[in-house]
Amino acid sequence: MKHLLSTEDLSKTDAIDLLDLAAKFAVTNHSNKTKSSALNGLLVANLFFEDSTRTRFSFEVAAKRLSADVLNFTAKGSSVSKGESLKDTILTLEAMGVDAFVIRHQNSGAAQTIAASSWSNAAVINAGDGTHQHPTQALTDALTIRDALKPSSDQKDLSGIRILIVGDVLHSRVARSNIFLLKTLGAIVSLCGPSTLIPARLKGLVDEIYYDFDLALRAEFDVVMMLRIQSERMQSGFVPNSVEYSTLWGLTEERFTTLPKTTLILHPGPMNRGLEIASSVADSQQSAIVHQVRNGVAVRMAVLHKLLVRETS
Ligand code: CP
Repeated sequence: MKHLLSTEDLSKTDAIDLLDLAAKFAVTNHSNKTKSSALNGLLVANLFFEDSTRTRFSFEVAAKRLSADVLNFTAKGSSVSKGESLKDTILTLEAMGVDAFVIRHQNSGAAQTIAASSWSNAAVINAGDGTHQHPTQALTDALTIRDALKPSSDQKDLSGIRILIVGDVLHSRVARSNIFLLKTLGAIVSLCGPSTLIPARLKGLVDEIYYDFDLALRAEFDVVMMLRIQSERMQSGFVPNSVEYSTLWGLTEERFTTLPKTTLILHPGPMNRGLEIASSVADSQQSAIVHQVRNGVAVRMAVLHKLLVRETS
């Protein structure tokens, strides 16, 4: 594996290997925060053309925990604002000896473009491209589900676990990445949301699509993953207004009380509290949202390790 561009590229073995390595890093991060020297002397460039809190800082923490040197680049404040192209940005940083580019970009396919180009020989990690893919978020979610629902099991995949992904699927790279990864790991994946926000082409990829949230919740899922309404990617009115969205598609306190006490609540963040998820639900005992963020560091350590450390046998 030279790059990580999409969860579609991960076999079940690849995915489980990454989750197992991440689980080991999660234990050491939690217990003593000891740094590893695995990436000593390597240079990781975090290129964020789009805003981020969780992904950007967790990649930075992950690279530093593995002793890499880190360059943090944001489009704002760089020569991109003077019209510099993606190609020249990569060529410039490549000349400084970058070993891995972690890239978030508003255009779907940006990470793939760099990986397929002759601009650089570095590893490319997709940290979210347009509405396409966000593979490390999906790995983070899978690890969080495995931690919560299979804590002491020898079973390393997610077979039989029933997951409902709710909301703005159309604009969600997190949903797309999760659908491929969770299905590869054997989970039963359903979608729920307004018909305007569920692309018809996903029908063949998932087990069930619901257009009525209350009806869906009667099916008692093991995991309910709420998605952010991505207003910044909406060119026209996909939903009538925020009050109606929250009433029909929000995980309100009232809906939450109908769920089994064992249902795990996930949200990749950032959250619109009070819109797609009630604040009290996000902060409830059944919510693993903070655990997702914690696992994000471990997953990104595992991905950097996998791509950059050449095992000698
Ligand atoms: N989940 C996620 O990608 O969050 P950020 O946009 O804060 O990185």
